Amino acid sequence: MVDVNEGHEADFLAIAREFSTVLARKEYGRADIVRDEASPMRFYAVRHWASADAAELCHADVEVQVLTARLFKIARVTHVVNGVQRTNALRLLTDDRRGAVEADRRTGFDRRHENQGRSEGDRRKGHDRRLGPRRLRDRPGQVNLVEAARRAREHADAAFSHFKVGAALETADGTVITGCNIENATYGLTICAERVAMFKALSEGHRAFTQMAIVADTDAPTPPCGACRQILWEFGGNLSIVLANLTAEKGTHELKDLLPLPFDARLL
Ligand code: THU
Repeated sequence: MVDVNEGHEADFLAIAREFSTVLARKEYGRADIVRDEASPMRFYAVRHWASADAAELCHADVEVQVLTARLFKIARVTHVVNGVQRTNALRLLTDDRRGAVEADRRTGFDRRHENQGRSEGDRRKGHDRRLGPRRLRDRPGQVNLVEAARRAREHADAAFSHFKVGAALETADGTVITGCNIENATYGLTICAERVAMFKALSEGHRAFTQMAIVADTDAPTPPCGACRQILWEFGGNLSIVLANLTAEKGTHELKDLLPLPFDARLL
């Protein structure tokens, strides 16, 4: 999945064409580029390898590496699937959430089914508020991640520190999974909002992620703690980390900058 930086679409398409030509010329396989219907600057770069050996040769090919280095300068690349999956037509029909998405579909377990008897413009407050991410009207199909983290923060159980944190993690297919910090009487078993979100996502089968929003009620941004950086890196890779408080965004960082020289499975 390739998120192209603003203003670099033409460069990206040129690199994609060159890549496709190299793949064909050296008989490594074929490459397709698909634009995301909801985010115009997001593309899916699909590789159809001639064989596993061809994929390996291609990755080791200097010509390809030069193209990849150019790509990394103008886009953020998230490796979504790296393997082979047999397509199960029935599962695609029943499990593929994108296939069932309508433009203004509300997500979450609290989707309203019947008329609650509220007059037009009567906003829900406090416990009555609708939970879960909402769709941004001007960007259909996308979720406001910071707002989702703000709402998740309301569930924080921070009886000891009184420091409530919310996190919202976006998966590669656009699903948003939230978390909040949960403390307990031993203090040490406390778990941060970021890890709650990541573990929830993993436990529901998600394996590819693009970004996480983290929200606390402080003027200075609240970056993830060291333990969370490690977990986010191992399971999420180079996520974009969006920091915010209750009213404003406080900056976006790449996880590789927050966790330089990381230890991970590649070093085992
Ligand atoms: N906390 C988080 O949930 N995320 C962070 O990024 C920083 C800290 C929680 C842990 C604990 O419940 C409280 O904030 C105070 O450290």
